[in-house]
Amino acid sequence: MRTQVGIVGGGPAGLILSHLLHLRGIESVIVEFRSRERLESEVRAGVLEQGTVDLLRETGVGERMDREGAVHEGIELRFNRQGHRIPLSDLAGGRIMLYGQHEVVKDLISARLDADAQILFEAEAVSLHDLESQKPTIRYRKDNEDHELRCDFVAGCDGYHGVCRSSIPDGARTEYERKYPFGWFGILAEAPRSSEELIYTLHERGFALISTRSPEIQRMYFQCDPEDDAENWSDEQIWEELQTRTETHDGWALNEGPIFEKGIVGMRSFIVEPMQYGRLYLAGDAAHIVTPTGAKGMNLAVRDVRTLVEALQAWYKKGQSDLLENYTNTCLRRAWKAQRFSWWMTSMLHRYPDDEGFQHNLQLAELEYVTSSRAAATSLAENYVGVAFDE
Ligand code: DHB
Repeated sequence: MRTQVGIVGGGPAGLILSHLLHLRGIESVIVEFRSRERLESEVRAGVLEQGTVDLLRETGVGERMDREGAVHEGIELRFNRQGHRIPLSDLAGGRIMLYGQHEVVKDLISARLDADAQILFEAEAVSLHDLESQKPTIRYRKDNEDHELRCDFVAGCDGYHGVCRSSIPDGARTEYERKYPFGWFGILAEAPRSSEELIYTLHERGFALISTRSPEIQRMYFQCDPEDDAENWSDEQIWEELQTRTETHDGWALNEGPIFEKGIVGMRSFIVEPMQYGRLYLAGDAAHIVTPTGAKGMNLAVRDVRTLVEALQAWYKKGQSDLLENYTNTCLRRAWKAQRFSWWMTSMLHRYPDDEGFQHNLQLAELEYVTSSRAAATSLAENYVGVAFDE
């Protein structure tokens, strides 16, 4: 099989890439090892920056998001049992949309299939070949048979564990990584909203986050041991932990309800350099992982993809290669800025196991500063809504 752009990975990065290329008359094929059902049901993050929302809307895949998503104009930082609002829109001029990543994935798959796109589900990319030539190849396995997809370019949108990044030879890539001594315990619960806006809280027992998916479904997280098993926690224990960490002086209480999904995710910061090799271009988690505290992951992937689409368009329509050559430069500068913001939010809002109090008091001082200085709050807001990453 032949195509112009061979895309490894059918998550948000690969799907948006395929969608945008299609709108510009460039053909692509997606090779994705998961089934459509699994892709559409994997629960991930849910905060879309203004720019991501605009892009989905402008390219015709925002209709359900506008109907079912919730627009938020601020977030709350809670510490010392008191809430402080950061008015994102007033400070930075943008808003965020709460809409689950797998809902975005559903909308994109449906739009791509309506346009007769080739998405090969349950097809495992095994290896990449001839990346330094003009005709790179993706070898994949589907239905117990080996196949080859020949293309002009390969887009590596296959996440942290995919084959694309490791196809850049060892000597040609540098990886930067930081691991954290905690993870996030995440739940979905059938309960009414407890707050109109997201709450990020630091408590002596650690971080907690109150988010939402719909008026009936709530998403919450709390800092935990990354080696723990979600099954060790009963619903009662989970609610008790969340109630304790979010408690306020004025008797605020979290609405509880049946928990129908729970899991633990580890936390790491990661960046690979360069993000390209020969005719291979990495986008999203294949190139960088940010801690979830800044809600940047998917938004950063969308920015990579936009940069790649502009570069591919310039190459196909005008024979220009400078944007492609600059891809790593453009994306990496931005990725480090997002990395910094995510690391900063993480450092400010989590208890570190070896901290004997010094760091916790610094964190409280930082939170007081951020919530009382307009300049500091604006800095948070610009990063959170994403204008800090605009070119
Ligand atoms: C959600 C996830 C995040 O990582 C975050 O910072 C805020 C919200 C969520 O899943 O709703």
